[in-house]
Amino acid sequence: MRARKSCGSLSSLNAETPWQAGPNARVAPTVACVANKDKPNRQYAAGRDSGPGLSGGGPHPYIISMRNFRRIEIRPAVPDDVMMIASVLVSTWRATFRGIISDAYLDAMKVEDQAIGHARRMRSPGAFLLVAVDMSEERVIGFANYGRARAMPPGFDRELYELYLLPEFHGAGIGAALLRAVAAHCREMQASSLFAWVLAGNPNRAFYERLGARAVGQGRVSVGRQSLEQIAYRWDDLAKLAGAGNVAT
Ligand SMILES: CC(C)(COP(=O)(O)OP(=O)(O)OC[C@H]1O[C@@H](n2cnc3c(N)ncnc32)[C@H](O)[C@@H]1OP(=O)(O)O)[C@@H](O)C(=O)NCCC(=O)NCCS
Repeated sequence: MRARKSCGSLSSLNAETPWQAGPNARVAPTVACVANKDKPNRQYAAGRDSGPGLSGGGPHPYIISMRNFRRIEIRPAVPDDVMMIASVLVSTWRATFRGIISDAYLDAMKVEDQAIGHARRMRSPGAFLLVAVDMSEERVIGFANYGRARAMPPGFDRELYELYLLPEFHGAGIGAALLRAVAAHCREMQASSLFAWVLAGNPNRAFYERLGARAVGQGRVSVGRQSLEQIAYRWDDLAKLAGAGNVAT
């Protein structure tokens, strides 16, 4: 059997990966948040307090900060987003995995190749893609994709395949907002849990722990010629994840 790819894995979305996006997809409603990419602001308590989740709480249930003015909208991806999604993926991989994944592999990554792969996957049923858009430039600055869990034991019903933000937007609560949106949509689909594979060397593993995930397993993943350790993180309480900015206990 193929190794399961981690959330931090370029090849985590292989040909058999289910996917669904675009105008005809069953997708989550749009949400929005406000952040300042030049002045990261982690005061997103307002997001926790302003609505019960993706489906309710008014037009902007994920307002992160009222004193900064970068408006970030989270919405389902459309086919025109594909090049920007691929660009985010390549930039984020190079920034995050340098020193973990070989320079040769990272330097050989091509936005065009990623775009082709994502466009193909967008047509597959059973998986979903949300993008975070910087509305001042109408630019995709991050994305999350998720869907049916792949090759896991019973009880793992939805998987977060990838979650990436451009580095200059880190630390402003956008990752948490994307993850909450994913959790809310999974709840709407009657899912009871969510999990993600994360490279063991990923410096951002603590983000998942901060958002309430617990490590439940480990495995290995092939990235180019490397075999890397990966950790499976699981969220058991999607209601809590969907409704809270920080659900760590
Ligand atoms: C990981 C990632 C999605 C987090 O998104 P983000 O918008 O930067 O994170 P947020 O601002 O929403 O942070 C939410 C909480 O997690 C914490 N957090 C975020 N990144 C963290 C890190 N690397 N280490 C420790 N805590 C972290 C924040 O401090 C915040 O906690 P707080 O409420 O106590 O302040 C983003 O940094 C990213 O895309 N990184 C590169 C790719 C990657 O590693 N993706 C995930 C694995 S595939």
